[in-house]
Amino acid sequence: MLDLTRKVAFVAGAGSVAEGWGNGRATAVLLARQGAKVFGTDYSEDALTGTTTAMDKEGLGDSWTPYKADMTSNGDVERAVRECLKRYGRIDILVNNIGGSQPGDPVSLTVEQWDGQMERNLKTAFLGCKHVIPVMEKQFEKEGKGGAIVNISSIASTSFQVGGRVHVAYAASKAGVEAFSRATAICYVKKAIRVNSVVVGMMATPLVAARLTQQLGVSDPTALAAKRNALVPMGRMGEAWDVAHATLFLASDEAGYITATKLIVDGGVTATRHNGDVAA
Ligand SMILES: NC(=O)c1ccc[n+]([C@@H]2O[C@H](COP(=O)([O-])OP(=O)(O)OC[C@H]3O[C@@H](n4cnc5c(N)ncnc54)[C@H](O)[C@@H]3O)[C@@H](O)[C@H]2O)c1
Repeated sequence: MLDLTRKVAFVAGAGSVAEGWGNGRATAVLLARQGAKVFGTDYSEDALTGTTTAMDKEGLGDSWTPYKADMTSNGDVERAVRECLKRYGRIDILVNNIGGSQPGDPVSLTVEQWDGQMERNLKTAFLGCKHVIPVMEKQFEKEGKGGAIVNISSIASTSFQVGGRVHVAYAASKAGVEAFSRATAICYVKKAIRVNSVVVGMMATPLVAARLTQQLGVSDPTALAAKRNALVPMGRMGEAWDVAHATLFLASDEAGYITATKLIVDGGVTATRHNGDVAA
């Protein structure tokens, strides 16, 4: 079940925004546990080192290649894909995990912040696909096997907002990620390349303590966590492993008939709130 032996995974944003388990790090480690060789990119050396340490702790160091790259840069992504091919010779799984929210409404957001959100959240998924899909197409022509692409979205795509927190550019870019995934899936459906999104709810990742407390002007991360827990029907935020497991499933052969769709990992939030005071 969910065996990734002989598969190569390219994980974009395989570090973690702070110490601990972010979605990208947990996903990289989980895919390696399942037998994949994992090529992970990040623009932060420290973030990559943290993932290397995590891999080494589990004896997975031989299955892991860290590579420094800014995934908003076409040249960097092209080079990273080339390096991955040099190292492993193929790419079966692509995870576009990079993303993060910049608060603001259309008036308060600067043009640079708007562009930055589109670059970080949407362009990174586009560039990952742009350079990895030709590799998968060649694999399809040669052996009838394409690959699986998982793009990481957010329940913010359905325009929920967190306790007065507005982030319209993030919402728009993540809705874009989901539309891009569906449209791309149909482009390559005949070449055995599957494309899906994981729509992430409120997770207790290092992001919450590191970035959200700062952005929301909250001095007490515990109080923020309690507030976020209370907004979830399950009564708790999820964790990076929940995202990693959903990603693993969509990337695996067991999801072979699943494409152009999304898997919501949110403890029930989106099913119970429509225009509510919620978001990730
Ligand atoms: N944490 C949450 O609560 C939450 C909620 C909804 C959606 N998400 C989504 O999950 C994904 C991962 O979020 P996370 O908070 O777990 O982060 P993460 O801990 O997985 O870290 C992402 C990594 O990407 C790297 N990175 C950022 N920009 C980069 C770039 N341009 N090039 C290369 N590397 C870059 C960072 O250095 C970091 O190591 C994002 O797409 C985010 O929008 C997270």
